[in-house]
Amino acid sequence: MSVFDTEGSDATGHEQVVFCQDRQTGLKAIIGIYSTALGPALGGTRFYPYENEEAAITDALNLSRGMAYKNALAGLDLGGGKAVIWGDPNRIKSEGLLRAYGRFVESLHGRYYTACDVGTYVPDMDVIARETRYVTGRSVEHGGAGDSSILTAWGVFQGMRAAAEHTWGSPTLAGRRVGIAGLGKVGKYLAGHLIEDGAAVVATDVSEAALSWARSTYPQIDLVADTRALITADIDVYAPCALGGALDDDTVAALRARVVTGGANNQLAHPGIEKLLEERGILYTPDYVVNAGGVIQVADEIEGFNFERAKLRATRIFDTTGQILRLADAEGVPPAVAADRLAERRMAEVGRLRSIYLS
Ligand SMILES: NC(=O)c1ccc[n+]([C@@H]2O[C@H](COP(=O)([O-])OP(=O)(O)OC[C@H]3O[C@@H](n4cnc5c(N)ncnc54)[C@H](O)[C@@H]3O)[C@@H](O)[C@H]2O)c1
Repeated sequence: MSVFDTEGSDATGHEQVVFCQDRQTGLKAIIGIYSTALGPALGGTRFYPYENEEAAITDALNLSRGMAYKNALAGLDLGGGKAVIWGDPNRIKSEGLLRAYGRFVESLHGRYYTACDVGTYVPDMDVIARETRYVTGRSVEHGGAGDSSILTAWGVFQGMRAAAEHTWGSPTLAGRRVGIAGLGKVGKYLAGHLIEDGAAVVATDVSEAALSWARSTYPQIDLVADTRALITADIDVYAPCALGGALDDDTVAALRARVVTGGANNQLAHPGIEKLLEERGILYTPDYVVNAGGVIQVADEIEGFNFERAKLRATRIFDTTGQILRLADAEGVPPAVAADRLAERRMAEVGRLRSIYLS
C-alpha cells in the first residue's frame, strides 16, 4: 500500500504518517494520522510481530482510517489515528521502548493521542504517560478511565435496541433470543444487560473459565458447543463478541438471526459481505458504530474522566444507530455504506468550520 495519494495508487488520503525508530530499545513504530478534521487524532497503539514492514504500514493506514470514521460517528471532537509498534511484545516490550515511543507521540504536540490496543495494556499507557501528555487508557490511579469494556458493552446494547426498534417496532430485546459468541469482557456485560431487559441469551465460548463464569453467574444462559451451533440455533439476534471476521460467506448463509449487532471489531470477513447480509434480509449494525463505547470512554479522559458523562454519550449510540438504519432505507444502501456516508458528512461539515478565521 502506498502512503501518498497519487494517481493510480491505492492510498486512502492520510494526512500524516510518522515512522519512529530507536535502535537501542528496538522500537520501530508507525503512527498513522488519517484526519484531524474534527480534532486531534485518537486511536490505540497495536504492538504486533508483523511479517514485514509492508504489513505494518498497511495495518497502521487501515486502522487509522477506521478510527476517523468511528470517532466521527461517536460524536467526538477527535480525528482518526492509530499507531503500530512492529515487533513481538513478549520479546521486546520494555520500559525504555515504551518511553521512547512516548517521546515520539509527544513530538507530535497533540496531533495524535494514543490508547491501548492489541498487545498494549493499561500499565503500558501509564509508562508512556511518563513521556507524553497525549495518552489515554491509563489506570484509574493515574487519572485514567480503567476497563473500557463496560461502556463498550453498554453501547452495543444501545445499538441492539435501535436494531430491535427498526426490525420489530419496539426498542427492547424483551422476549427475543440473542446469541452471543464470546463471553469475554464485552460479552459478559452484554449478557447482563440483555437478561435485565428480558431477553433469553444463548452463548458460546472456547474458554472454560468464561463458561464456568456463565454457569455460576447466569445459569439461565443456554450454553451451546460452538459458534456453528450458535448461528444455526433459533435466535433473533447474533452478537459476535470474540474475534474479527465473524461474518464470512458460510456464516451469513447459515445464520438464522434477523439482526447482527456485536462488539467485535472488523466483523465483515471481506468487502461485499454487507450486500450478502442485505440480500438475506439480515439487518447488520456496523461494528464500528455500536462498539464505540470504549473509545468514548478513553476520549473522556482527555477532559478528566467522568463516568456518567461518558455513559450518556455511549447511550447516544442508540440514536446514531437508528439514524444510520433510516438513512440506509432512504438511500437504498446497506447500513455499512450509510454509516460511512454519515461519518464523511460530519467530517466535512464540522471540518469546514476551520475555514472561519479566529484571531
Ligand atoms: N474491550 C473493549 O473495550 C472493546 C472495544 C471495542 C471493540 N472490542 C472488540 O470486542 C471483541 C471482544 O473484546 P473483549 O475485550 O471482550 O475481549 P476478550 O478477550 O475479553 O473476550 C473475547 C472472548 O471470546 C472468546 N473466544 C475467542 N475465540 C472464540 C471462538 N472461536 N468462539 C467463541 N468464543 C471465542 C474468548 O475465549 C474470550 O472469552 C474483540 O473483537 C475486541 O476487539 C472490544
